[in-house]
Amino acid sequence: MTRGSAVGKIILSGEYAVVFGEPGIAVPATLRTDVTWEDAESPLGIGFSGILPDKRAESYVRNVLSLCGEARAKPVTGTIGITSGIPLGKGMGSSTALVIAICRAIFGPSCYAQALAIEDAVNPGHSGLDFAVIWNERPVIFQKGIAPQEMALPGNALDGAVLVDTGMPNETTADLVAWVRGREQQARQYVEAIGRCTRRLIAGEPLQRVMRDHARAQEGLGVVTPEAQRLIALVQSTGGTAKVLGAGARSGGCGMVLVLPNGELTLAMLRETGYPIIETNRP
Ligand code: MEV
Repeated sequence: MTRGSAVGKIILSGEYAVVFGEPGIAVPATLRTDVTWEDAESPLGIGFSGILPDKRAESYVRNVLSLCGEARAKPVTGTIGITSGIPLGKGMGSSTALVIAICRAIFGPSCYAQALAIEDAVNPGHSGLDFAVIWNERPVIFQKGIAPQEMALPGNALDGAVLVDTGMPNETTADLVAWVRGREQQARQYVEAIGRCTRRLIAGEPLQRVMRDHARAQEGLGVVTPEAQRLIALVQSTGGTAKVLGAGARSGGCGMVLVLPNGELTLAMLRETGYPIIETNRP
């Protein structure tokens, strides 16, 4: 049996801006996706455990496996086991982690080229930020066209942070990226504002101070649902800060929201909202 594993990710700054060439910063999440593969001549069987996929995620996995088959010029057969600890489709890099973990199980640890080619096929229009942080499992500063740089984050950057699950977006990341790309004129000022947030973090400004401006720019892009906007405003009213992680949504849930709470004041308010509070990340 061969195995592959990959982490999720938390984007501190840079959503969408990275697609247009601005810098972004992401850190690995503590949650992982693990894959096992028992090669056999039997038809392909896929078993899921942990966070179970919906139909969309299941067909995504089948697509990744079929592209792996094309890449090795031999269909993948036998048994694939997938244990996802990363919430699926909620901005934490589950789709890229699936690509990398599946490729590591099938091609072995040096599968960078195969995994990136499959990522390009299944996540069209992606910037490369998710792939860079998930492949390297290190905090990275990412900018298109430049080799990702490792970033030494202050050890306590995400101390006390919580992730709030606002539910499953109706759109995929690829849909949302295509939508934002199609309205580049309107997006430009917000893309630049997000780029400035990343530069402020690189210059050493604390995340709490930068996140409020980042969240406002994401709202300007049109990828934060009204419910998520209300949640962020509530967090801010308690003295905390919050931002949507990843692509966000135009309708449905808005995926994970990263919250830097102002102690118990924010946490008590969050518990009252009834949204599941998922995880504290240790970078
Ligand atoms: C998705 O995790 C982040 C986006 O910036 C898309 C990308 O960078 O490929 C929205």
